[in-house]
Amino acid sequence: LCQCSFIFKSSFQLVKSTFSSIKDKNCLRLYAIYDGYSELSAYERKRLKNITENAKFFAALKLHEVCIASKAKAKKAEDETVRRRSMRLQRVEPSGIPMPKMPAQPEAEEYPQVPAGPLPMVPEDQMGNSKLAENLLTTWMRISNLKPAAKNWVLSYSLNSMVLSEDNIKKVVKYRVCSMAIHPSESIIFIAAGDKSGQIGLWNNCKSEEGAHVFIPHNYPVTCMHFSPFNPAHLLSLSSDSLRCGDVTRAVFDEICRSEEDLSSFDFLEDNASTAIVGDWDGSVAVVDRRTPGISSELSADIGFKRTRTVHVHPVNKQYFIAAGSVDVCIYDVRYLKPNGNKPVSSLKGHTRSVASAYFSPVTGNRVVTVCECLSLSFSPCLFRAIWDPKQEDCFVVGSMAQPRQIEVFQDTGKLLHSFYNLDLLSSVCSINVVHPSKNILVGGNASGRLHVFKE
Ligand SMILES: *[C@@H]1O[C@H](CO)[C@@H](O)[C@H](O)[C@H]1NC(C)=O
Ligand SMILES: *[C@@H]1O[C@H](CO)[C@@H](O)[C@H](O)[C@H]1NC(C)=O
Ligand SMILES: *[C@@H]1O[C@H](CO)[C@@H](O)[C@H](O)[C@H]1NC(C)=O
Repeated sequence: LCQCSFIFKSSFQLVKSTFSSIKDKNCLRLYAIYDGYSELSAYERKRLKNITENAKFFAALKLHEVCIASKAKAKKAEDETVRRRSMRLQRVEPSGIPMPKMPAQPEAEEYPQVPAGPLPMVPEDQMGNSKLAENLLTTWMRISNLKPAAKNWVLSYSLNSMVLSEDNIKKVVKYRVCSMAIHPSESIIFIAAGDKSGQIGLWNNCKSEEGAHVFIPHNYPVTCMHFSPFNPAHLLSLSSDSLRCGDVTRAVFDEICRSEEDLSSFDFLEDNASTAIVGDWDGSVAVVDRRTPGISSELSADIGFKRTRTVHVHPVNKQYFIAAGSVDVCIYDVRYLKPNGNKPVSSLKGHTRSVASAYFSPVTGNRVVTVCECLSLSFSPCLFRAIWDPKQEDCFVVGSMAQPRQIEVFQDTGKLLHSFYNLDLLSSVCSINVVHPSKNILVGGNASGRLHVFKE
């Protein structure tokens, strides 16, 4: 059973009663960073004043926290393999003895290890259908030339009209999906999925004959992927030893950063995606500049974490990023990062369990949603993550262990807005999900590499 400590404020009663009917869930916490002084005690007001003085941006901070206590009903066998792997990720044997890095592919199958340096963008499944893979890459190139539409926050939000059909389920990678990215194109649904073994599958959901094709640019779980918002012909992908940029115009997976540490996640620091903040399982963060030659980071900074699982850059004030891992969730200012002795701008306290993810809300960044892990999977690279719908300021999406299997959308009040399920077609947990930035499209990935696309 997951236990969480709360810092509940006035809205707790309402929130709790909404949530308590929902079982089998990880701990979701929602922090709201308010900009008003209402409802604050004298102490909070004083604290607030301190914070204001420290950083103008966090002009006022009040944390509301929502936690769902839940039963940890994970599938045992699966946990075992994940835990074993993650021990390896840490380069620690179950006995605690450090060991050298090993490739992530399951032992039974022999794969050549992917070498360092640039790799050609050649599909693995070439047998006779290389033309189809070529078509797929051409599609990616074509849709990336289009100027992205202006951000439109107020589009019609019709969760009820989004459905799953048989055509929209496909096995895209071989093993468990650990990360996904969706191309911003509004004409073609083009999805990338990264798996536990280092594969990246690309799928054009709108043209079944192009199929899905697999590339192997990594040796370890692909834990984080983003299309560059500046140039979506670039797909950046991260696994524990490297950050790569798949550039379809040159048909190559370049190496941007190679690390002796175990990288966990990254996010772009600027709109033009030339620099990124990269989190590290060992706790530190690194700043990477894609324009500098070489494959080392510009700066590695100890932020005092035991483990950093996710990093996320504030959508408006891009000098701020939030790091989460272990029981720490803290906001830092990248301008003041130094190798040691870094102090957070703000800490979101209250987690007693390992935190799987923390993300700013997409429009204002005034809210943060976190998931804390109730299962003893604290080393797993492929955990549940709650992600914001990039089109909305106040809705987030998270996979669920509930039956029937479903993907849930919550409002920031804690209200369950919608459950995506399909009794016939969705029979598994989708722990990794991605939402299209401008269209009503949701994709859930499962433990056997299958993607499920809910769309209008
Ligand atoms: C505000 O800051 C002062 C000085 O740093 C400190 O002594 C005090 O405890 C802080 N008050 C609150 C409520 O955080
Ligand atoms: C990206 O944006 C940053 C900050 O706005 C700027 O300093 C930099 O020159 C830009 N880089 C490119 C390649 O446009
Ligand atoms: C993944 O999804 C597919 C299709 O929905 C399903 O057949 C398969 O059993 C699922 N895998 C797992 C491990 O649940």
